[in-house]
Amino acid sequence: MTIAIIGAGHVGRALAAGWARAGHDIVLGVRARRSTDGASIGDAPGVRRENPRDAARAASTVVLALPWAAAETALPTLGDLTGKTVIDCMNPITRTPDGMGLAVGHTSSGAEQVARWLPGANIVKTLNQVGAEIMADTSGFAMPPVMFMAGDDDGAKAVVAGLLTDLGFEPLDAGDLTRARLLEPYALVWINQAILRGKGRSWAFAAVERAGTS
Ligand SMILES: NC(=O)c1ccc[n+]([C@@H]2O[C@H](COP(=O)([O-])OP(=O)(O)OC[C@H]3O[C@@H](n4cnc5c(N)ncnc54)[C@H](OP(=O)(O)O)[C@@H]3O)[C@@H](O)[C@H]2O)c1
Repeated sequence: MTIAIIGAGHVGRALAAGWARAGHDIVLGVRARRSTDGASIGDAPGVRRENPRDAARAASTVVLALPWAAAETALPTLGDLTGKTVIDCMNPITRTPDGMGLAVGHTSSGAEQVARWLPGANIVKTLNQVGAEIMADTSGFAMPPVMFMAGDDDGAKAVVAGLLTDLGFEPLDAGDLTRARLLEPYALVWINQAILRGKGRSWAFAAVERAGTS
């Protein structure tokens, strides 16, 4: 499958590496064809660079791996994404008086705002819940790390479930796009533990079942 990844930072590069390894064709959407971020992976097998609009046009699945603060300006420049599966990895993180919080939440979510910015696209919220290092390499865990997804289109979620499996995650459907209101603060659980509580970045969440129940 051809996958466009808009943004070639930590997340964009991690996903590009993982999906290229799984045999997908990756088009990185970067602002400058020789930008430092894009250049470090852009010549890997199965990965090429385009400007963000051409990258999005080239693929039926488009991944948003941009800083939240860039999204409102950047997304309209991608052109018409009607009918495409759009994976939203962005966490609407902002500084708050007590440290770090979400710019949107409770009654809406970043993903629902993305859906308003990209009318007609099938938005799936996922790949926002653990650090980029885990997205790049899910090996070495006793069981597959879990990755929740939320979206309104079942066909798009089926595509995304396959892509999550290709990265080594266990996909779990959290429900419609409003469930992104749960998945975005859930990312803060990982960030809090990894960074503020000093657990480091080499761990992930797993869904464990009691023996004999499945
Ligand atoms: N890092 C993580 O572990 C992690 C985990 C889960 C979710 N997330 C979320 O994923 C998103 C990306 O995080 P990140 O850590 O990968 O960020 P990052 O390393 O700062 O990379 C962001 C990338 O976006 C590009 N960019 C910025 N504005 C752009 C625009 N208008 N058009 C095209 N590209 C643009 C930047 O490219 P330039 O070189 O052009 O500036 C940069 O390569 C964030 O929303 C974050 O909350 C991050």
